[in-house]
Amino acid sequence: MREHDSYGSTTMRGKRRKFDDDDPTFVKRGRIEPALQEDPDLPEEGDRWSTWDGALHGPEPRPDWVRTEYGAVDTELGMLKTGKEADVFLVRRAIPGTDKISMLAVKRYRDGDHRMFHRDAGYLEGRRVRRSREMRAMNNRTAFGKEMISGQWSAAEFGALGRLWQIGQESGLVCVPYPVQLIGTELMMEFIGDWETGEAAPRLAQVRVDQDQLADLWRQMTDALSVLARAQVAHGDLSPYNTMVHDGRLVMIDLPQIVDVIANPRGGEFIARDVRNVAGWFRSRGLETDEDALIERLHFEAGLR
Ligand SMILES: Nc1ncnc2c1ncn2[C@@H]1O[C@H](COP(=O)(O)OP(=O)(O)O)[C@@H](O)[C@H]1O
Ligand SMILES: [Mg+2]
Repeated sequence: MREHDSYGSTTMRGKRRKFDDDDPTFVKRGRIEPALQEDPDLPEEGDRWSTWDGALHGPEPRPDWVRTEYGAVDTELGMLKTGKEADVFLVRRAIPGTDKISMLAVKRYRDGDHRMFHRDAGYLEGRRVRRSREMRAMNNRTAFGKEMISGQWSAAEFGALGRLWQIGQESGLVCVPYPVQLIGTELMMEFIGDWETGEAAPRLAQVRVDQDQLADLWRQMTDALSVLARAQVAHGDLSPYNTMVHDGRLVMIDLPQIVDVIANPRGGEFIARDVRNVAGWFRSRGLETDEDALIERLHFEAGLR
């Protein structure tokens, strides 16, 4: 298994081979041939080998663009956003010399105590043990689970994306990026945007729409909220900023604070809050949104009544 260096860490570029006496390419007497200044642990192009091997993987059936090959190489193309809690990078994972390319948004949570999240901490109440591998590992404090304690937010987001993606897949209503892999605090997911230019899709808050598009986006939003309700969760921080619109398709992002609405005594309120946080944007643009009826339906779908 390869090392899992994170981008920008000193170990990534700083890692150097050990000079081996048996290595015929190593010229002794202190003279190092130019070729030896390159690190054979690094691929000839790109920044690092794909870290797929050894990562926790997203749900199956996997989209066919997910690159699982050992020979795939990751190239960091730039920063999408830097924030208080996490930085988001754009990475191309590709097999050199082929058109087997995937574009990934890499969300790296900052070290430190993420429990001081700016978000409402209400989600912590009565968090259930998930059947999913990652949640179990986190709760059991296995070796993997220990890594997850610092990476708890990435693990929570990874688990949420996987579950919602799967439910969306089954019902034909995929409304989240596909979670490709998780290693520690680094979550790699489907890049929502133009894979050719590397331009991220706009957030809902930034799009200008006509009335038909507005109605269509609201329909997609209510469908997405239904997917969440059927998964018995609330987003917990839903807003026109945590919603992207790519080619007319609505995609929810930023889910580390997902709320288990069955275990959480205020689960129903979290659902209502999600609805109100986005309905206001649609209403202010002239769309009629029957929020109370929607909240009631979502509570029903979540099994709250
Ligand atoms: N899957 C993705 N594809 C494209 N851009 C993304 C993706 N995930 C996040 N981003 C970009 O990064 C920004 C921050 O991501 P987000 O998950 O909302 O983190 P936070 O708000 O905690 O910083 C988003 O507004 C978006 O511009
Ligand atoms: Mg956000």
